Amino acid sequence: MTIIVTGGAGFIGSNFIFFELDRHPEDRIVCLDKLTYAGNLSTLRDVMDRPNFRFIKMDICDREGVFRLFEEEKPDIVVNFAAESHVDRSIEDPGVFLQTNIMGTATLMDACRKYGVGRFHQVSTDEVYGDLPLDRPDLMFTEETPIHTSSPYSSSKAAADLLALAYHRTYGLPVTISRCSNNYGPYHFPEKLIPLMIANALNDKPLPVYGTGENVRDWLYVEDHCRAIDLIIRKGRVGEVYNVGGHNEMRNIDIVKLICHALGKPESLITFVTDRKGHDMRYAIDPTKIHSELGWLPETKFADGIQKTIDWYLTHRDWWEEIISGEYQNYYEKMYANR
Ligand code: NAD
Ligand code: DAU
Repeated sequence: MTIIVTGGAGFIGSNFIFFELDRHPEDRIVCLDKLTYAGNLSTLRDVMDRPNFRFIKMDICDREGVFRLFEEEKPDIVVNFAAESHVDRSIEDPGVFLQTNIMGTATLMDACRKYGVGRFHQVSTDEVYGDLPLDRPDLMFTEETPIHTSSPYSSSKAAADLLALAYHRTYGLPVTISRCSNNYGPYHFPEKLIPLMIANALNDKPLPVYGTGENVRDWLYVEDHCRAIDLIIRKGRVGEVYNVGGHNEMRNIDIVKLICHALGKPESLITFVTDRKGHDMRYAIDPTKIHSELGWLPETKFADGIQKTIDWYLTHRDWWEEIISGEYQNYYEKMYANR
């Protein structure tokens, strides 16, 4: 089989490529990525020369280029990770989120229709459900929870989900959608909470916690997410949405303290800064459907996953130091100075 993986030079997409090449060496993987600030070719260095791997630098909004690639590769499956993924950036500048996350997804699905692709999988997010209150721990997101977005990012992801379901109903396109909770693990871009706190702590820099740090996220080790997508594209039912999450709710402040302790750094590095606009309070996924239909369960406990992640950042300083040395400094200054 040939699988086109878009956004494969980013965090989850690259982990998915490693997972697929390892578990399904008989398949051919074609990675299509624009290499935005979030995409790193160095991440894919170890697989670049594999005979069953091809990298192509391309924008998913480039209709002509995408159609040409589909003509050449005749993919069996397309898995769409390509997206602008950072909520804070979407609050600063929504335009590129609408372009990539909505128009790019539509372009890929048009190509899937034209070339009769057997499956289009849209990698979506639990953020499309909005948030849950802290005082109702009994509530969780199911696939039936209404879409109720908060940020330009989550709205663009919700729009793409609705388009995917519309392409299924209107044109019979064989789509599936996964809505996952917060991932963590290797190759996570250091603008996101966990890698940012690890990198700053290692450099003895302040650890900027938004608001009071009581917001709750449901953390899942990235490899467990990759295994869920692998199951869905091979065994999932078309036209269906699958929630993916590990029953691992944690407050931001507790995560940051845990990172301080694991690295032997003082909690005095923690600084409470102005809250994110429209900040979602709590996410919690009910993964009953994917468990009962496809037998998926998370395999990595948070205590093990976070230790593996911290160890990875300790042993891969080159990877993240290069990222934070360039344009990222301007971004950091803009987002955090005087916050
Ligand atoms: P990321 O920002 O690390 O990577 C995104 C990748 O997409 C980068 O390699 C970037 O170069 C590429 N890209 C961006 N715009 C593109 C375009 N126009 N054309 C081609 N490539 C483009 O993101 P991530 O955290 O790996 O997230 C991947 C997907 O998973 C996203 O769709 C995101 O919404 C979803 N998701 C993420 C999480 C999470 O916790 N990170 C959780 C659930 C769902
Ligand atoms: O739930 C899935 C989503 O998880 C994905 O769809 C997004 O692509 C991904 O970025 C992530 O979104 P979050 O907004 O939850 O992740 P982020 O790492 O940006 O923030 C996690 C929490 O930490 C959130 O409550 C905001 C807070 N935070 C974040 C940063 C960057 C801070 O307190 N300080 C920070 O500096």
